Amino acid sequence: MKFTVLTLFPDFVNSFFMNGMISRAVKKKIISCISINIRDFAFNHHKTVDDKPYGGGCGMVIKPEPLYAAVKYARKDRPDSRVILMTPQGRPFDQKKAWDFAKKKKSLVFICGRYEGIDERINYSLVDEEISIGDYVMTGGELAAMVIIDSVTRLLPDVLGGKESVDIDSFQNGRLEYAHYTRPSRFKDMDIPDVLLSGNHKKIEKWRITSSLKRTFLKRPDLFTQKKLKEHEKQILKKWCRELEELIKK
Ligand code: ADE
Repeated sequence: MKFTVLTLFPDFVNSFFMNGMISRAVKKKIISCISINIRDFAFNHHKTVDDKPYGGGCGMVIKPEPLYAAVKYARKDRPDSRVILMTPQGRPFDQKKAWDFAKKKKSLVFICGRYEGIDERINYSLVDEEISIGDYVMTGGELAAMVIIDSVTRLLPDVLGGKESVDIDSFQNGRLEYAHYTRPSRFKDMDIPDVLLSGNHKKIEKWRITSSLKRTFLKRPDLFTQKKLKEHEKQILKKWCRELEELIKK
């Protein structure tokens, strides 16, 4: 899978490509990562990439010509590339979208805006989709592009250690991941749940589903409105309700 980031700050993006899981995936040739400096496509002597907005107002806008040339260059040997504009106005990014990209394994080209944004005509003519990573405004799209590259890469085969790691992820079953514990079994007078030491895999699995459902209910109840509960999940939640009722009666 190929990721290309069009940016005015290629060093920022390159440092991300050269570390951790991303650099390992590059070395294993599972992904390739390229940054392209939009400024290299500026056509005047001063390498100008921005200009004042027509109609007046504050801030600067990225000029269409260098960005147009940079996108054309990025797509030259992969015309099937999907061009994505990182913007707080875009569709909110989520795990489903990450899987969608990971499964299609296309070449993705990210346009990272700065200043007030990019000239709208680039949007009409070259952008396939706009994506936001949340309802807040950052100084540029680079961090947002990195968020997408990171979350898509970890879903690709052979990037993470075991297949299970992605299967148990939060959001995978429409709920948050269960609680994790490691050694020691007692830490500052806090013990881990006994069942995790029982060696009974069926019971452990049931405890994990229960932990996952309880956490989702307490931390992200909104996820339940998007999820159709399975019968065994309903039973677990009903049992928890009964336990709570008993507790209140006391
Ligand atoms: N650029 C600035 N803020 C952004 C956001 N929230 N998502 C995507 N790109 C952005």
